[in-house]
Parts: sequence; structure tokens; C-alpha cells
Amino acid sequence: MLTVAVLISGTGSNLRALLEAARLPDFPARIVVVGADRDAEGLAHAEEFGIPSFTVPFRAYDDREAWGEELGRRLDGWSPDLIVLSGLMRLLPGSLVARYSPRIVNTHPAYLPEFPGAHGVRDALAAGVEQTGASVIVVDDGIDSGPILAQERIPVMPDDTEETLHERIKPVERRLLIDVVRRIATGELALTH
Ligand code: GRF
Repeated sequence: MLTVAVLISGTGSNLRALLEAARLPDFPARIVVVGADRDAEGLAHAEEFGIPSFTVPFRAYDDREAWGEELGRRLDGWSPDLIVLSGLMRLLPGSLVARYSPRIVNTHPAYLPEFPGAHGVRDALAAGVEQTGASVIVVDDGIDSGPILAQERIPVMPDDTEETLHERIKPVERRLLIDVVRRIATGELALTH
């Protein structure tokens, strides 16, 4: 049974989808812990599903390295087989990525390598493209630059706002993420650097 740690910063709707999938008896992975870099709304989903959680507030540390060290210590306590970044709005320090790579995957609300970074949805809208997408990638020490595990195109509507477009992207992200976690757990999908 693949053990998974999920890291979040926000509402955790993608986390919730993963928690619901992992509750199904035939799902070959289970979420063992949820971590956050702040007092994220999404931690409430972990509590509802009876999953342990922890918070390592980024602001409580002098720098990214110190934050990453504590985050790594907390994760090591659970020694997860896989770490899923699901709306974590922080770059992990290279030292942490190096320790867990390639067993860290991330969801991104764009069709990478298009529109990497923290504002993929906003950037796609600003670019006036007719379609964007959702991607699941292996986390490397770049910004959304790791190997692409799954992605799918999503149309941009003329009257889209960042919110309406993001809400159309998230369900696709969730479906791709759940499928990627399932395929990693069954060994069908091998993680490479
Ligand atoms: C997702 O679109 C994720 O890809 C992006 O932030 C969003 C998080 O949404 N990094 P939620 O917190 O899962 O609702």
C-alpha cells in the first residue's frame, strides 16, 4: 500500500478529492499525513477524514532552508513513499527535493511547460489563449519544470475570470492526480528524475 503525504497551502479541494479516492477500498494508496506551510483552510479536510496533519509556518523560519529542514523532519517522521504537492504555494528548498526526488509530484493549473509558476491561471488569461490545461509533474529543483506525468487541455471561455477558469481546471487536476497516484501505487507509472 503506497503511503502518501500531501502538502497544501489553500482550500485543499484537490486534497479532498484525493482523501475521498483513498477511502475507496480498491484504491492502492493511502494518505498518512497532511502538511501545510500555514494555517490552511484545507487542514479541515484532514481532520474530517481523521488524517494526522501538521503545520510548519513558513513565516516562523529565517529562510527557506530552515523551513525546509523542519518540513523534512516532519515528513521523515511518516517516511511517506510519495509526497503530493496539492496547492502548496511554496517552492521546496533544493535540499529537500534532493532528499525525496523523484518521489514528489505536483499538480499545476496549466498545460506545462506553458505558464509555470504561482499564477498559471492568471497568466493564461492574460495571454489570451483559447485553451490552457492541467498538469501533474515530478517536482525537480526548478519551477514546474520536472517530467510531465499527465496533462490535459482545457478550453478558456471568452468571459472567463481567473476564478471561473480555475474552477474549470481543478476537477481535471483532481482526476489526473488521482489517476497518477493510482498508477504510481500499482507500479504502472515509474517515477524518474
Ligand atoms: C490548484 O489548482 C493547484 O494546482 C494550484 O493551486 C490550486 C490549489 O487548489 N497550485 P486547492 O487548494 O486544492 O483548492
